[in-house]
Amino acid sequence: MIATILPATPLSASGAAIAQAAAALADGQLVAFPTETVYGLGGDATCDRAVAAIFAAKGRPSFNPLIAHVASPDAAAKLVEMTDTARALAARFWPGPLTLVLPRRADSPVSLLASAGLDSIAVRMPDHPVALALIAAAGRPLAAPSANRSGRVSPTTAQHVAQCLGRRVSLILDGGPCRVGVESTVLDLTGDRPALLRPGGVAVEELEAALGVALPHAAHSPEAPRSPGQLESHYAPSLPVRLRATGAQPGEALLGFGPTATGADLNLSPAGDLGEAAANLFAMLRALDRPEFCGIAVMAIPGHGLGQAINDRLRRAAQPRGPRG
Ligand code: TXA
Ligand code: MG
Repeated sequence: MIATILPATPLSASGAAIAQAAAALADGQLVAFPTETVYGLGGDATCDRAVAAIFAAKGRPSFNPLIAHVASPDAAAKLVEMTDTARALAARFWPGPLTLVLPRRADSPVSLLASAGLDSIAVRMPDHPVALALIAAAGRPLAAPSANRSGRVSPTTAQHVAQCLGRRVSLILDGGPCRVGVESTVLDLTGDRPALLRPGGVAVEELEAALGVALPHAAHSPEAPRSPGQLESHYAPSLPVRLRATGAQPGEALLGFGPTATGADLNLSPAGDLGEAAANLFAMLRALDRPEFCGIAVMAIPGHGLGQAINDRLRRAAQPRGPRG
């Protein structure tokens, strides 16, 4: 059954709701939709007006480019030059939480605004039935950043989207909580060697095994291009965040990890499972971001596998805060 259609009221993602969302997208409007990583704020990637509306709704600086979401590797090949490496990685990891930055095709229909004027475009095929059905119904690539205000914690439920974007979005498709919980891994394939721009839902070890090479992180390799979105304070709750805590100081909330974190207010994974911790990360940061606390202390998380993406998000959540939209 479809709920009453109010802006910012999540709709259960039935066939009728997807058709309605596709019509809104064709009209240049914005639709929030679930992916396996986080909820996306989608608009027609080929339409300047829709892409401009995404930047405005997020309060996102327009120099930070967007990912074009597609429903197949062949659809990606209409937007970017799918190199042999890109084809091989897509065959292995798509649909899934891997974003590939590739050279823009000369005849690419993607709005230059979406790629912030760069000569590359980030593409990804999400692993979520609602996202794939929506892209297919829209019949066009969807530009979609995470559906939060710029700099804030990414949404992993439709209710999070309603809370943070409210009436800035025409429609929210509700596909339940996101399975992975951290954003896609972003890999730059435009240079001589692949470079990691953002650790995410595909563990770096898995990518390295597939590529047969060690991946330099762009942040550690000055010649590699950087992901424009990766430098500022980001993923930030309102409260200050303190890392590698062994306990809470007076007034702090404690976010624990593993079986020893018995005194924690919330535990990312009592069993110490990094996949479970990634899936819980953003929802638990939101849940502890309450005025009765003066800060959020987070216990140490191991650095392997999805731990690299979790620690990346936590490090940015703990950054001193600059101005944000
Ligand atoms: O899991 C995800 O990737 C989610 C879901 C909705 O798909 N999307 C997401 O989008 O996280 P966003 O906009 O929050 O992050 C995209 C990242 C940013 O760091 C951006 O700078 C980078 O990808 N990016 C996009 N296009 C790029 C390009 N052409 N070159 C380098 N970096 C790019
Ligand atoms: Mg984001």
